[in-house]
Amino acid sequence: MKDYDCVIRGGRVATATDDFPADVAIKDGRIAAIGFGLAKGATEIDAAGRLVLPGGVDAHCHIEQLSAAGIMNADTFESATASAAFGGTTTVIPFAAQHVGLRLRTVVDDYMALARKGAIVDYTFHMIVADPTPATLAEDIPALVREGHGSIKLFMTYDKLKVDDEQLLDVLLAARRARALVCVHAENHGMIAWMSKRLLEAGHTAPKFHALSHPRGSEAEAIHRLIACAELVDQPIMIFHVSTAEGAALIRDARARGVKVFAETCPQYLTLTAGDLDKPGSEGAKWMCSPPPRETCDQEALWRALALGDLQVISSDHAPYAYDATGKLMAGPTPTFKQIANGLPGIEARLPLLFDLMVSKGRLGLGKFVELTSTAPSKIYNLHPRKGSIAIGADADVVLWNPEVEVTLTDAMMHDKTGYTPFAGRRVKGWPQTVLRRGEVIVSDGTLRAKPGSGQFLPRGGGAAAEPLSAATADAVLAARLGAALPWRG
Ligand code: URP
Ligand code: ZN
Ligand code: ZN
Repeated sequence: MKDYDCVIRGGRVATATDDFPADVAIKDGRIAAIGFGLAKGATEIDAAGRLVLPGGVDAHCHIEQLSAAGIMNADTFESATASAAFGGTTTVIPFAAQHVGLRLRTVVDDYMALARKGAIVDYTFHMIVADPTPATLAEDIPALVREGHGSIKLFMTYDKLKVDDEQLLDVLLAARRARALVCVHAENHGMIAWMSKRLLEAGHTAPKFHALSHPRGSEAEAIHRLIACAELVDQPIMIFHVSTAEGAALIRDARARGVKVFAETCPQYLTLTAGDLDKPGSEGAKWMCSPPPRETCDQEALWRALALGDLQVISSDHAPYAYDATGKLMAGPTPTFKQIANGLPGIEARLPLLFDLMVSKGRLGLGKFVELTSTAPSKIYNLHPRKGSIAIGADADVVLWNPEVEVTLTDAMMHDKTGYTPFAGRRVKGWPQTVLRRGEVIVSDGTLRAKPGSGQFLPRGGGAAAEPLSAATADAVLAARLGAALPWRG
């Protein structure tokens, strides 16, 4: 009888804070020891020349999701999470997406069933609330948060998903009471609709005009309004996929005055620009996401915001729509930019792209790479200490990176079902070669070794939302003077 199920020997372990040579022993799916001279494992993995990193946590990905426009993601839980695993990600947070008229409880049950059947890596959900009815607010949200669905997503744009300001406040308050975190897609809907109408009227229909139809100020305005609403009800928020320098600056200001705002960006906003949408015919549709990629000066501003901690997380926002009649070209071969599903795939490319930029090319470095892609999302979404680090007692979600190998990304090498990657042609240095999930090797030698349905659901509370600020805001001071209670006090 061996002491350990598995020992990973001779690698260089790196966490968000430390970087040291050590062996890692695994027992019953968890990390049991870190050190030298550890007893033998039933399995021994030679990690010489490898970096031993915690598995990636992708806190924003759309999987097997039906868009409000009725377009299905190209991926199932099986294909998306296989793709995640090949890219070094061992935990995902996709969405249970409510559409207007649907009961949130039913929606969550349905997505849970899909994940239970197909997921290869571990998972937990954000609940998209598009229909904040009294039943959603008073019954479903509190009950579902208690059952471990600790975060909600809202949209401030998209015709069939958006909430207005009153609904936004209603959900923020319901989340405050339930202790859930609220994640938000922050873009001003009216500005986008107004710009789109005028561009189309002028005959500017090609995918490249999508970028112009989402003015940079539409993000800044919505972020400003969202933060004001969150401050009013004293509710922590996460701002998804920040794309502009102005958006990052607003978040910095809010955090500096103590507002509990977290924020995310994605590889596409660090590597692509609006110019990538400018392709012949409809091809630019492959680079269409919302918000759109911006300019190189925004990329620099986002890197700075990541360095300073204004933005804490880099997720993929994997939103896979095939470049055919089932996805991007559903309205025909030459759709207007308004008829093209928004979103691009990235669940597999996220970590290799970022490893190359941050570790191989030296931008922010290895510790920050681990922090932004694994440790910080684990902490913010209440998965820590089970996920997000190499530590005694943590799940043995471990990725052995070869820091020397160079790979050119191609459409064909991706394991999701989108059929293309917007990052094709990029050469990256560093690759996740062996991936363990709860101590089990799920990827090695380019082969998937885990079965669909072997991923586990991760119940969690609201994490960073568990303790609202309860700040003495000017509104609270005035309410006290008048002998009134702010709504969230009542
Ligand atoms: O364009 C994107 N990002 N599509 C996915 C849905 C969303 O807005 O996050
Ligand atoms: Zn979004
Ligand atoms: Zn998204």
